Amino acid sequence: MLRTRLDLDRIQAARRVIDPVYLNTPMYRCDALGRRLGCTVSIKLETANPVRSFKGRGTELVTGLLAEQGRTAVVCASAGNLGQALAWSGRRRGLDVTVVASVRAPVAKLDRIRALGAELELVDGDIELARERAVRIAQERGIRLLEDSLDIETCEGAATIGLELTSGETTFDAVLTALGGGAMATGVGYVVKTLAPGAEVICVQPTGAPALTRSWHERRVITTESADTIADGVAGRFPIPEVLDDLLAVADDAVLVRESSIITGMQLLLEHTGLIVEPSAALGVAAVLEDRDRFAGRHIVTVICGSNVDLDAYHRWVRR
Ligand SMILES: Cc1ncc(COP(=O)(O)O)c(C=O)c1O
Repeated sequence: MLRTRLDLDRIQAARRVIDPVYLNTPMYRCDALGRRLGCTVSIKLETANPVRSFKGRGTELVTGLLAEQGRTAVVCASAGNLGQALAWSGRRRGLDVTVVASVRAPVAKLDRIRALGAELELVDGDIELARERAVRIAQERGIRLLEDSLDIETCEGAATIGLELTSGETTFDAVLTALGGGAMATGVGYVVKTLAPGAEVICVQPTGAPALTRSWHERRVITTESADTIADGVAGRFPIPEVLDDLLAVADDAVLVRESSIITGMQLLLEHTGLIVEPSAALGVAAVLEDRDRFAGRHIVTVICGSNVDLDAYHRWVRR
């Protein structure tokens, strides 16, 4: 029995609330990529939906609850993908959505948040400053603050990916997920450890944004002064204690990867799967590249968790 904030019955029930457009995403073996990496590789494709990331699963739950409670407005801080997802789910339910993001977030993400009808406020700082500003907005306006990874619905939404990973005939030896605030890793990890306990759960962060990974290894919250990575979706500095506790219960390992490996991961995903992915979605492949012996001959699944990139930057990365 895993001691976490998560609960399998609630995660199963979540599937009935989430718009089906986010559910039952494709999962398939990529033989060419597997040959290149020296192991069997399956990908779970979380980008084929209206917001091109997995975050819609969680925002569907949050906004469903808010609508039920008769709430009319919600604010969140976002690196870009949560904001888009909240804007999409909120619009569907007639909620006023405010998103606070960094001025340095990818323009494509910011543009889509606005295009989905949300109010966008930019801060001249990173995601942690955006989190502080979102708290103040919620207090000033008396509206609901959505806190990614702390609000259990964000973890439960992501956890539905785990149900899909474990529901088929296919078995796997390890699942590799990007690690940001931790909603995806704790959610997916909880379900995998509950329903397919033989599989390893491995979280991956960039060396330039290591706070939660270092916290996991030291079993206490470690913050960092700065974060420097192209993987903008996972560039937090202040891990949330409750999320760390859950992660300690469900993850078998947390590893750091270099920027050059993330870029190679993006190149390989383009070359061998035809997918344009954002850097955070290449973390799993990067982890295999950096430790090929560990994965040799095994079957790994990695979650392709987002594809919102600025094309200029993307072309620079994949052309190297
Ligand atoms: C594409 C992508 N991957 C990974 C993450 C990290 O997910 P989590 O914050 O649930 O750990 C995010 C967060 O927004 C993201 O947008």
